[in-house]
Amino acid sequence: MKKKRILSGAQPSGLLHIGNYFGMIKRMIDFQDSSDLFCFIANYHSLTSISNKEELEKNTFNAFSDLLALGLDSEKSTVWVQSHVPAVTELTWILSNFTSVGLMQRSTSYKDKVAHGLIPNMGLFSYPVLMASDILSFQSDIVPVGKDQKQHLEMTRDIAIKFNNTHGPVFTIPEIDIDESSEIIFGIDGKKMSKSYNNTIPIFGSEEYMKNQIMNIVTDSAGLNEPKDTDTPLFNMYTLFLNDDEKNELKDRYATPGLKYMSIKNELYEHIMDYFSKQRALKQHSLDNPDDIFDLMDIGRKKAEVIASDTLSNVKKAIGMV
Ligand code: TRP
Repeated sequence: MKKKRILSGAQPSGLLHIGNYFGMIKRMIDFQDSSDLFCFIANYHSLTSISNKEELEKNTFNAFSDLLALGLDSEKSTVWVQSHVPAVTELTWILSNFTSVGLMQRSTSYKDKVAHGLIPNMGLFSYPVLMASDILSFQSDIVPVGKDQKQHLEMTRDIAIKFNNTHGPVFTIPEIDIDESSEIIFGIDGKKMSKSYNNTIPIFGSEEYMKNQIMNIVTDSAGLNEPKDTDTPLFNMYTLFLNDDEKNELKDRYATPGLKYMSIKNELYEHIMDYFSKQRALKQHSLDNPDDIFDLMDIGRKKAEVIASDTLSNVKKAIGMV
């Protein structure tokens, strides 16, 4: 049976943290053997929020090399940078003609972003059309995304259906795959881990910074000889790195008087450094050998371009571009 094509993209936005990893990236990496995986860095989408050239360049390089260091494999899968495949932006223009303004005006993400101070320009407004093009260019079967992206995916389906109804079945209508099972990963302050709350534990941060963040995880003031609450950020974070037996063991230790949060934090630090040691070494290797990363970007670009150009040419034929 032909493998399903799964596609997802991520904006390059600074240091990846363990919330990104356990929320989405690990899931993508696990898909690699069972599906035809497509994954890209959405640097054109980042123009809506980053206007500093160096920052965008650095973030794009980092985001791409981070995904590879974490286990995306550019041989098995197709991993590329959005702006390297211009067929996608060309298709965006065509798709705009199948996108109703009313639909865009109802975008909750657009309204949210403007409310948070992003500039309401046409790039931000048309963001979902570019996203539709990312997905439709590659004839994706399934798009796994977080809850916040659900409406964008509905718009993509809407655009594709409108196109197909007008010009014939050119596009695969993608399925939306929202992972409802994934638990919220709490940051060091107990709120959802997020870069915008500054409460993350980065995967590729300096040892000193990571240690510091872990030491700052909020804990309660339970006395040494009281049992400890497991519904807390420190426990929650530690269990990300444990199997079921180990989790139960930790639970027992929390129930037993004498537990010191300080020792749990030290252990967690060791676990995190151990869990990501291979990935951190790979990341360091990329930083020392940036040309290796540029070569891998090129491999991804070539693979992605073949498919996106093929879709674009079918679309142009279908609409009457001679
Ligand atoms: N908008 C997505 C985000 O911010 C990133 C993205 C861009 C994307 N294009 C995509 C995700 C296509 C899935 C499919 O998270």
